[in-house]
Amino acid sequence: MFKIAVLVSGGGSNLQAIIDAIEFEQLNASIEFVISDKKDAYALKRAEEKNITTLVFDRKEYGRNSSDKILEVLKGKVDLIVLAGYLSILDGDILKEFNNKIINIHPSLIPSFCGPKMYGIKVHEAAINMGVRYSGCTVHYVNELVDGGAIILQQVVNVYFEDDAKTLQKRVLEEEHKLLKKAIKLIIEDKILIDNGRVKIKS
Ligand code: GAR
Repeated sequence: MFKIAVLVSGGGSNLQAIIDAIEFEQLNASIEFVISDKKDAYALKRAEEKNITTLVFDRKEYGRNSSDKILEVLKGKVDLIVLAGYLSILDGDILKEFNNKIINIHPSLIPSFCGPKMYGIKVHEAAINMGVRYSGCTVHYVNELVDGGAIILQQVVNVYFEDDAKTLQKRVLEEEHKLLKKAIKLIIEDKILIDNGRVKIKS
């Protein structure tokens, strides 16, 4: 069975999308761990409800050591780490140990509105302020550059004049749930080739 760890910081709707996809047999995988950098993340409740092992490496307590702690727990135990609204930065050995085995979902079309300190609602505020007609979401591999790894999938979302950051966030989030599921399925089915920093999807 393909084993996944999901890292979270907040509400966990993307985590829920993965849980549901597994339950509905759209993904042939199991979630072995849900790890949060915040002890009050609602995502933890979603995991506990499904009897998934949860761990918290609080950012305030562990700071930059949390990547090493996560590596200690996950080494040899999972095939893929999914950052689903995880707002700390992973660094150090975990990036080598899980090279091309960590993916992230970001709520914009990278390379727009991404990078350090661009997360959550701030991304959508920036898109609205810029007046872009299209935004969207991106699933990409994680490397040492924030939001800089190879792009796996992107989905475009319309931005309307009447939108504010909240309405845009909601529309993008609905697409995130589908896109993340699709990317995980491609990985499980070994359909991704990485060539010179670019992803090719095998047919
Ligand atoms: C999602 O929109 C995700 O793309 C974003 O946080 C939200 C988490 O929602 N992640 C980032 O901004 C990372 N740069 P969720 O907790 O309901 O899945």
